[in-house]
Amino acid sequence: MTAVMTTAGVAQAYDRWAPIYDLVFGPVFRQGRASAIRAADRIGGRILEVGVGTGISLPGYARTSRVTGIDISEDMLDKARARVRRQNLHNVDAIRVGDAEALDFADESFDVVVAQYVVSAVANPARALDEFARVCRPGGEIVITTRVGAEKGVRGTIEKTLMPVTSRLGFRTDFPFALYADWIAGRDDVALIERREIPPLGHFSLVRIAKLDREDQ
Ligand SMILES: C[S@@+](CC[C@H](N)C(=O)[O-])C[C@H]1O[C@@H](n2cnc3c(N)ncnc32)[C@H](O)[C@@H]1O
Repeated sequence: MTAVMTTAGVAQAYDRWAPIYDLVFGPVFRQGRASAIRAADRIGGRILEVGVGTGISLPGYARTSRVTGIDISEDMLDKARARVRRQNLHNVDAIRVGDAEALDFADESFDVVVAQYVVSAVANPARALDEFARVCRPGGEIVITTRVGAEKGVRGTIEKTLMPVTSRLGFRTDFPFALYADWIAGRDDVALIERREIPPLGHFSLVRIAKLDREDQ
């Protein structure tokens, strides 16, 4: 990965995106979000949505699921709080500032951890994944929608070239699936359940990772 992203820089970038975020990134990620929500609701219970942003996903969760949302951008969170109030989302327990790389929750405190279009925006993705696994209970699931970059070819070259620009906008174009595969391979308490392409344009995937029960580790 060529360009360095910092958590403060990413927070500033999303503070700037907040007023127009839903307009720009609402429709384009709708199908992916719906797939992630379906996967999370299948397990249900206590759901942590990391990088909840403007809370665009929140109305989609089953009212029987209890959702906590965190993000590093205050301006994005203001939008999420307004949405929770406006739509009376009583199943949303909390919307608050939090860093994916240092989650302020006890071990195993959630049944599902959801991160939609977030891991490629986080300064240190592997550290965030470690935190997702820590707060997810054994038998639970980590549900991710993610940018997946082309590893080679013309698209791969373009994505690498764009990195200095897109990293200032708060996301990476150059984001190989190997990052997830290597992280999973390096731990004995997680396993890949599913990797499925989601729209738009085959540049994104739904990735479901099991936090293994202790007897399966
Ligand atoms: C592309 S937006 C996705 C927002 C929302 N999940 C969606 O589906 O539209 C990425 C979000 O991740 C948040 N984010 C980036 N780094 C983060 C971190 N370290 N901890 C928590 N949130 C982070 C950004 O502030 C932003 O709201």
